[in-house]
Amino acid sequence: MTEHIYAHEHPETERRRDGGFTLWFTGLSGSGKTTIAHLVGPAIEERGPIVEYLDGDTVRTHLSKGLGFSKEDRDANIERIGWVAARLTRHGAAVIAAAISPYEATRQKARELVEEWGTFVEVHVATSVEECARRDVKGLYAKAFAGEITQFTGVDDPYEEPEDAEIVADTVSRSPEESVAFVLSELERLGVVAVGAPTAG
Ligand SMILES: Nc1ncnc2c1ncn2[C@@H]1O[C@H](COP(=O)(O)OP(=O)(O)OP(=O)(O)O)[C@@H](O)[C@H]1O
Ligand SMILES: [Mg+2]
Repeated sequence: MTEHIYAHEHPETERRRDGGFTLWFTGLSGSGKTTIAHLVGPAIEERGPIVEYLDGDTVRTHLSKGLGFSKEDRDANIERIGWVAARLTRHGAAVIAAAISPYEATRQKARELVEEWGTFVEVHVATSVEECARRDVKGLYAKAFAGEITQFTGVDDPYEEPEDAEIVADTVSRSPEESVAFVLSELERLGVVAVGAPTAG
């Protein structure tokens, strides 16, 4: 089918707005990606940038509707998120992607797409399978361990741990709020966001 599609770059392709970046959260289901993303986003907006969220669960109801959980479909999902993240980064947005993104090579592809236009910050929400299963926010680990659902990351599907993530967030020894403060301080240290006003207390 694709041989009849003629992709072309549009004339305005080189135009861009500076300051765009993508925060790419990766980690197991229940690790805390969405929780942290939804608290980090408003804190970034307070400092100026407009935030756009590309959360795995949401994307799978629109952009990636119909994709499943085979390696091929997971990769397609991540590549789509990476492509949109790159376009938005080009326009100066602060993109917060939060999908499991289990495969290193595909995360790398997303990084390369984004880095054409701005900074890519990989945030590894490094929560163990045991802890995620203990939380079992969506009740999916119980089903996966019972064999009721298959291809579940961390149970019977791989999660390739990032080796070079810019930020590694440990969520076991921290509350969600503490994780958010940690991620923000790391973003300040990396020079990705402006240093914010110290919070009260
Ligand atoms: N330090 C922490 N940071 C983030 N979440 C935490 C922390 N400590 C405990 N939690 C809890 O862990 C759970 C994380 O769930 P969340 O939906 O954010 O995971 P997720 O990574 O987005 O999973 P999924 O891939 O299934 O969407 C929440 O119930 C949250 O309250
Ligand atoms: Mg989530």
